[in-house]
Amino acid sequence: MCFYLHDLQETDKIKSLMSLSFTSDWFSPHIPVWEEVLGHLKGKPGLVFLEIGSYEGRSACWMLSTILTHPTSRLTCIDIFDLNDENIDIGARLHFPVLTGEDMEQRFDANIHVLQAESKVTKLKGQSRKLLRSLPLDSFDFIYIDGSHTSSSVLSDGVLALDLLKPNGLLIFDDYRWNGFPEAPLRNPHAGIDAFLTFFKDEYEMIHKDYQVIVRRKEKVTASDASLRPH
Ligand SMILES: C[S@@+](CC[C@H](N)C(=O)[O-])C[C@H]1O[C@@H](n2cnc3c(N)ncnc32)[C@H](O)[C@@H]1O
Repeated sequence: MCFYLHDLQETDKIKSLMSLSFTSDWFSPHIPVWEEVLGHLKGKPGLVFLEIGSYEGRSACWMLSTILTHPTSRLTCIDIFDLNDENIDIGARLHFPVLTGEDMEQRFDANIHVLQAESKVTKLKGQSRKLLRSLPLDSFDFIYIDGSHTSSSVLSDGVLALDLLKPNGLLIFDDYRWNGFPEAPLRNPHAGIDAFLTFFKDEYEMIHKDYQVIVRRKEKVTASDASLRPH
């Protein structure tokens, strides 16, 4: 009987995953690395995740259906959800097949509803550079940076996010090798991520560096590291 019930739950899960609706898929290629890095957290209680840049919710839905499956786990999603906002970088906007920010947000909401995960998700609508300052320090197990792709945005998202992570928390930067603007390098994330990696090198441990960059916040900064900080 138990086996039968378990099967039913699995069937329901597959059915709801099949009802999700997206216009783009920038996320699936990363699943093998995410499985490797986040897999040990699957189903744990009380996980607190943050995503900067949710779009239609594809990466959010993967986190919710694969890792944040315990009823006490939570995901905060920051997105500007407005294609006309001056703080959304034009370069990335050109790659969005959705017509308006409203379409994007409606699809995000509908996908979260399909997973019946509304109670787990906090949606924060606006510019990450401002909203990140309203979140509690040292409180997230994991943060995904996939919002504005300019180097300055990625750098400021990284700097603000680092202090929001719990010690040993994980931070993933997307699109380290994306080069949509070879003629204007600062419109790509690469230089911003490199700047973060250089200036905060004493505060993280490198986990993975390829198309995405994954770091773990150090438990604590040692005395010799601290001497590098301004007094
Ligand atoms: C590449 S998409 C995110 C894709 C999503 N993580 C996924 O894998 O399906 C980038 C998102 O960042 C949002 N965005 C762009 N600039 C932003 C900013 N300054 N603050 C907050 N969100 C921003 C856009 O609205 C867009 O939805």
